[in-house]
Amino acid sequence: MRYSATVENMEVKSIRIGLLGCGNVGKALVGLLESQREAILSRTGLDLTIQAIAVQNMEKHADLAATTKQITNNPADVVSSDDIDLVVEVIGGVDPAKELVEAALRSGKPVVTANKELLAKHGPELFEQADQGNLDLLFEAAVAGGVPLMRVLRESLKGEPIRRVMGIVNGTTNYVLSQMTERGISYSDALSEAQSAGFAESDPSADVDGQDAASKAAIIAMVAFGVRLGLSDVTYEGITDVSTDDIEFAKRFGHTIKLLAIAENDNGEVAVRVHPAMVPKHHPLASVRDSFNAVFVEGDAVGDLMLYGRGAGGNPTASAVLGDIIAAANNLTQETNNGLGNLRNTPIQSTQDLENAFYINLEVTDESGVLAAVASVFGKHGVSIRSMEQEGLDGEARIVFITHSSLERNVHTTLDELRELDCVIQIGTKIRVVEG
Ligand code: HSE
Repeated sequence: MRYSATVENMEVKSIRIGLLGCGNVGKALVGLLESQREAILSRTGLDLTIQAIAVQNMEKHADLAATTKQITNNPADVVSSDDIDLVVEVIGGVDPAKELVEAALRSGKPVVTANKELLAKHGPELFEQADQGNLDLLFEAAVAGGVPLMRVLRESLKGEPIRRVMGIVNGTTNYVLSQMTERGISYSDALSEAQSAGFAESDPSADVDGQDAASKAAIIAMVAFGVRLGLSDVTYEGITDVSTDDIEFAKRFGHTIKLLAIAENDNGEVAVRVHPAMVPKHHPLASVRDSFNAVFVEGDAVGDLMLYGRGAGGNPTASAVLGDIIAAANNLTQETNNGLGNLRNTPIQSTQDLENAFYINLEVTDESGVLAAVASVFGKHGVSIRSMEQEGLDGEARIVFITHSSLERNVHTTLDELRELDCVIQIGTKIRVVEG
């Protein structure tokens, strides 16, 4: 960090950035920083330059040489260099990102990262390391891309007793579910479209199986409730089993299916989960379409609020990274940090102990006594039926139940017992229903 002449009565502080990774987000950041450098300088007195970029393939990035002093394929050199003040990590994944972030912090450099997987698996230890060095480890871009959720939770809502954060934090699955709902197309066609449009990763399994959203949910819970937890504490299900029949039923029932990440705090006991859910059409999350993200926060004092925007893509994610760079650079010049190193240990509630209404879709034989046999299993386990619809299917029948709010463990025991009945041909989807 260097201090030089003043601009508009502010002392200019030069911050030299080392960028690790130059994919979509890295490239967008280079462009955004270049176009905003003067504006940032005149607003903040910070002169931000990208001093070095570490890439895997230097030939592929030869064009960067015009604007960047050093292009290297050795990221370890960047994090240890005396010419770098602040490190930005947009490589993704745990290895080698974890080692590089640790090394940057060890050498006294604040870090800005967009890496949800790294923080969901190793956040608490990295936050502690950052705090011990009085350094920032900021990560706005790791959750919901360009939506400034982390700063709102960490700063604006710092004093708020937050009860629940419930959001759509994966753009790929929201695109797939929106297309299935609006155009009636199949899951696989919608997913291929998402891939061609560039929302889905080339390997979209972490998106569709819910793991991407689960990593983000773990980070949300850490920040919203100040607790120590990780990806392994999050129960998650993806959207691979959601059928066009489920989508059609949800519509008839006045709901729409969304993949929700939900972090709840019940008097200090925290539960974090990701699963598809039927959301009532009038709920603000129901109208979040395409690849947009939105997060609904419920607090005791603030009431309900929602943040909405682009959760993926180079420019929105780079915008979040740049906001963090400015915050970390400011803190660096003031020798302070905005830390999360004091996360507390907390009991993690099993999702089996949570209560939810459920949509349950069964295929059964079409003969007398079947409905009574099925209904009695629900009754035996204390799962109360709110509504039921039956339709004939070529000698068989489909019965769709909506239950009242019931303990998840009771619903699972009910389904286990139903599976044993001769009249039950198949248990189709079970989808939680958001009430209210
Ligand atoms: N693949 C993610 C999504 C974006 O579809 O939302 C990066 O977290």
